[in-house]
Amino acid sequence: MELPFQYIEELSRYVGQTVTLKGWLYNKRSSKGLHFLILRDGTGLVQCVVAQDRVDADTWQVAEEATQECSLEVVGTVVRDERQIGGHEVHVERLQLIGPSENYPITPKPHGIEFLMDHRHLWLRSRRPWAIMRIRNRVIRAIHDFFQERGFLQLDAPILTGNAVEGTTTLFEIDYFGDKAYLSQSGQLYAEAMAMAFGKVYTFGPTFRAEKSKTRRHLTEFWMIEPEMAFYDLEMNMALAEELVVHIVQEVLRHCRTELEVLGRDIAALERVQPPFPRLTYSEAVELLRSDETARMIDARIEALKEEQRQLETERAENRRRYGQAKKAEKRRIDAREIEINQRLDEIEKELENLPLWKESARNFQWGNDFGNSDETVLTWHFDRPIIVHRFPAAIKAFYMKRDPEDDRLALGMDVLAPEGYGEIIGGGQRADDLAFLEAQIEAHGLPREAFEWYLDLRRYGTVPHSGFGLGLERTLAWICGVHHVREVIPFPRLLGRLTP
Ligand code: 4AD
Ligand code: MG
Repeated sequence: MELPFQYIEELSRYVGQTVTLKGWLYNKRSSKGLHFLILRDGTGLVQCVVAQDRVDADTWQVAEEATQECSLEVVGTVVRDERQIGGHEVHVERLQLIGPSENYPITPKPHGIEFLMDHRHLWLRSRRPWAIMRIRNRVIRAIHDFFQERGFLQLDAPILTGNAVEGTTTLFEIDYFGDKAYLSQSGQLYAEAMAMAFGKVYTFGPTFRAEKSKTRRHLTEFWMIEPEMAFYDLEMNMALAEELVVHIVQEVLRHCRTELEVLGRDIAALERVQPPFPRLTYSEAVELLRSDETARMIDARIEALKEEQRQLETERAENRRRYGQAKKAEKRRIDAREIEINQRLDEIEKELENLPLWKESARNFQWGNDFGNSDETVLTWHFDRPIIVHRFPAAIKAFYMKRDPEDDRLALGMDVLAPEGYGEIIGGGQRADDLAFLEAQIEAHGLPREAFEWYLDLRRYGTVPHSGFGLGLERTLAWICGVHHVREVIPFPRLLGRLTP
């Protein structure tokens, strides 16, 4: 279909020609007889130059009155210009206002995170969310490609369910025509049934956990991708998880350079995501956590942060000293930088407060406990790529995990931890396939037997060894984007204390 307008991302095809663009005013600069309008249409940004001596009075007036985020139709000629955003500029012939925008709340000056979260429906139009959501889309596409190319069927698990999967403490309970139902914590149990029917499947859906704590890693609604494969053991499962993560990162590197640059992401760190990922048993991970090496690493980090703190404080003092004599543009730059510096100093201060506690927690870690967020973070600092931790104490893992035939205290579970402190992005393992063992586990975990009868049928009729895992989309994205908190990588985050917009 031939559209009556063009998109900014296609401008390279129209150099020297007249195009019609439709979008919103992202920013505007003006000087005598000229307006420079930065137009945004979702696909990119382009500078549109309006010269008073080259347009009619109506167009000039639209340019004069155009305010941030008003919607516009622009007709003009495309000129190649390497120095401009996106490598092009549009010399405007005609402008038309589509919808006005008075007092747009998100101005070019920096805003606090709560303000931005309250205005998420508008904030999505800004540059940083633009980059993140485009990477999100690319990651989703890469995941589908990965599984589809390998013959997996995507099948959906229900969201309204009658039973818990990942423990009963994070269940969202709802009333289902007088019965109790729960929002799905994981599609796994259904994926297992589907794997017995179709061999290899994956689900891709929203999952819900009533997480009552505020952390940078937890949403109450997040998206999980859960492959499940008949006849896969733990080794094969780990190999698949590794291949998937490498594939996702490669696809983002190939297709999202601009987006990663907007985010200031360290590209080299992503380029290091190559197989093989180091594999540690839980027991090895515990040993590493308790080691002198870990203590020294934390000390080194404390020193590095203190040094960064000193440098930032010097820079801030220098900026403040220059402020009095600075020109207007320079003042604006200093103001913006001041906010950046203060934000980073706050982060450093918080981390410097935490690090001694993290060091204590790592040093005194007891075999048998689950890793806390800080333990995972510290573990990943030892490596330059994701790692896989496997064979956890069965007591801290879900009821459905198969035991290690070599050591009955252990479950054949595995977690993939992302580097740079991001921690767990994948959890999974080999599933218990023995009927009597599972029955005993359901009982031992205090789970209602009736709700699991259908699941037990999978072990009654042609049970086989099988494995699978769940990849948390937002955890993975926060890491790939280099974003501190998962709330930024989903269009409308749901968190403790946040249900709108
Ligand atoms: O480790 P989890 O709890 O594993 C399961 O749910 C398994 N049933 C999956 C399976 O084997 N099919 O969760 C899997 C992943 C975690 O590694 C994490 O990336 C993500 O889901 N996740 C969350 N992401 C955001 N907010 C939360 N509250 C999350 N809880 C888990
Ligand atoms: Mg987990």
